[in-house]
Amino acid sequence: MNKAWWKESVVYQIYPRSFMDSNGDGIGDLQGIISKLDYIKNLGIDVIWLSPVYKSPNDDNGYDISDYQDIMDDFGTMADWEQLLVEVHERGMKLIMDLVVNHSSDEHPWFLEARQSKDSKYRDYYIWRKGKNGKEPSNWYSNFGGSAWEYDEATDEYYLHLFSKKQPDLNWCNPSLRKEIYNMMKWWLEKGIDGFRMDVINFISKPENFEDGDLKPGKKYASGSKFYRNGPHIHDYLQEMNREVLSHYDVMTVGEMPGVTPELAKLYTSEDRKELNMVFQFEHMGLDNGENGKWDLKPLKLADLKANLSKWQLALEDTGWNSLYFNNHDQPRSVSRFGNDKKYRVESAKMLATLLHMMKGTPYVYQGEEIGMTNIRFDSIEDYRDIEIINMFKEQTEAGIPHQQIMESIYAKGRDNSRTPMQWDASPNAGFTTSTPWLKVNPNYIEINAEAEISNANSIYHYYRKLIQLRKKYDVIVYGKYELLLPEHQEIFAYTRTLGDEKLLVICNFYEGQPMFELPEHITYQSAELLISNYPEKLTHELESIQLRPYDASVFLLK
Ligand code: NOJ
Repeated sequence: MNKAWWKESVVYQIYPRSFMDSNGDGIGDLQGIISKLDYIKNLGIDVIWLSPVYKSPNDDNGYDISDYQDIMDDFGTMADWEQLLVEVHERGMKLIMDLVVNHSSDEHPWFLEARQSKDSKYRDYYIWRKGKNGKEPSNWYSNFGGSAWEYDEATDEYYLHLFSKKQPDLNWCNPSLRKEIYNMMKWWLEKGIDGFRMDVINFISKPENFEDGDLKPGKKYASGSKFYRNGPHIHDYLQEMNREVLSHYDVMTVGEMPGVTPELAKLYTSEDRKELNMVFQFEHMGLDNGENGKWDLKPLKLADLKANLSKWQLALEDTGWNSLYFNNHDQPRSVSRFGNDKKYRVESAKMLATLLHMMKGTPYVYQGEEIGMTNIRFDSIEDYRDIEIINMFKEQTEAGIPHQQIMESIYAKGRDNSRTPMQWDASPNAGFTTSTPWLKVNPNYIEINAEAEISNANSIYHYYRKLIQLRKKYDVIVYGKYELLLPEHQEIFAYTRTLGDEKLLVICNFYEGQPMFELPEHITYQSAELLISNYPEKLTHELESIQLRPYDASVFLLK
């Protein structure tokens, strides 16, 4: 396997709206980020991924872009952004930008022109179709609820929007559109950025004809995902983008790809195909979804998580590369979701971090994860800001679902769980802002905050630092071969990583019971060194048989 800087990096994701407010308007901004760069650097981070900071009417917090080459007023100016880039580079870190080109905002000049008339030069930059039998061109639902088609009276056609109706899908079949996008990407790369995280990039190739999806009983709209995920020309477009743009720069690329399988991920990321470096896959994020999707709650089974993550580790062993994550701005907080955010918050947050950071792939830390931030429970729907939550609340209320059941879904899976402001210290509003924050701060900031974490040597923050330092020190963590141990065990997730004559043994107890870990006989060694553990007291037992503590996590280096 070839070595590469992006394989050896740890990425930190910033959701700018919620990170740090420097000017007291209740919204995070670029100067706020600049003021916290030392904090990120001290964690040991190599690459910062900035969620969108472009001009946007904020229907979906910046994922609806009205100008790809300018900065949102809420966040500052282009001069602020340029200062950010310089300061990131001065600290020896890199900056990757979010590329949101499956759709634009409906306030983008292209769309404003396109909807004026069928003859507009920009009409074909979007996807327009006539209605079918007095209805939408297909029965697809939008990922944010309702139909994926919006009727436009002026021209008597519908346009496609896989997300909100203020996020019309761009038509990648059109070569001029593709060219404009490539030019825009070059413009940012010429400014000196270090790569892109590409938003739902495997959705960009739509079929020529829009067939209906399979309607579930009692539903008005169906999923069209089998038609638009990994669509007909997706590899052509990515290879063209690579040829035209990416191959000219030493950059990192990560494609966000709902519905990607390991087989497809190999096509997207194998080096000889010249598409992307790595994908963000979603299979492990769907293991606690019931039959009706994310709001349909189902407890996670450890066996499923082990099988899934191991499948990905093995599939991309020699070709391609994994992204490793449990958190981002679309997911609830992992310590609340998979750990125990009360009695064992610290132990379980460290256990989850160990499990992830010792795997093969590039780890992503989402702001606040490194201090064990938890989910939020607002009493009133009025306190939520996320369009997905608000639309789903309305839809489910209209469908007669009991209020409390809807709220429980939001508490478990809502995206605002991870978007409450970063908890910096115990001062009002967690030190995030001096005024009213755009989304309420989690009241637990008095105990859970970065300042307290930094001053406590046993904190989650220092544990992440140590995990990241280990990755820098031991090649086996980056490049070693993965092997799952005890696949049938109900409570323990254990695996090894092997490179040359070095072997890592990773043992994680996923629950609060105290199971025995029995070392499989084929794992032999001369010496064992404990590299990290989430309990201050060392295990005194022999490695062959260990009584684990609640949420125990340890990593040994075997030689
Ligand atoms: C994925 C992004 O991560 C999410 O936040 C956004 O709402 C959708 N794509 C649409 O851009």
